[in-house]
Amino acid sequence: MQMGATLDYTLLVLIELNKSAIDTILNKSLSLFQSGHIFFSSLTLALYLVVVPLGWKVYFNPTHSKLIHWHHRLGWLTFFLRSLGFILMFSMMGADF
Ligand code: HEM
Repeated sequence: MQMGATLDYTLLVLIELNKSAIDTILNKSLSLFQSGHIFFSSLTLALYLVVVPLGWKVYFNPTHSKLIHWHHRLGWLTFFLRSLGFILMFSMMGADF
């Protein structure tokens, strides 16, 4: 899971370097689906910063039910938002930014 989060962050940095993604977000008009892709993907990256350290806490405190509860909930939410962002990514294909 941590590997996945790290790869996602690396991908984001590469997209920014190759396509000036931040310039596109700020200065180009995007459709609803394209904005959704950016919104849900950004939310996922923010959630990784919480879910990964929480995962390590659960790993070292396997009986702490509150930690497990939050790691489960936020983990599934992260997975759901990442999937949504991925599906909406197809609206970015072929866009002429
Ligand atoms: C992108 C980061 C991560 C996501 C999205 C994620 C997601 C999840 C989810 C959804 C579950 C519950 C699975 C189920 O319902 O049975 C889970 C369980 C668990 N995760 Fe993660 N995880 C992440 C990172 C980590 C990391 C870095 C660790 C540290 C080693 C970790 C340790 C655990 C452990 C120990 C459990 C089992 C908890 C238990 O039921 O006793 N996770 N994770």
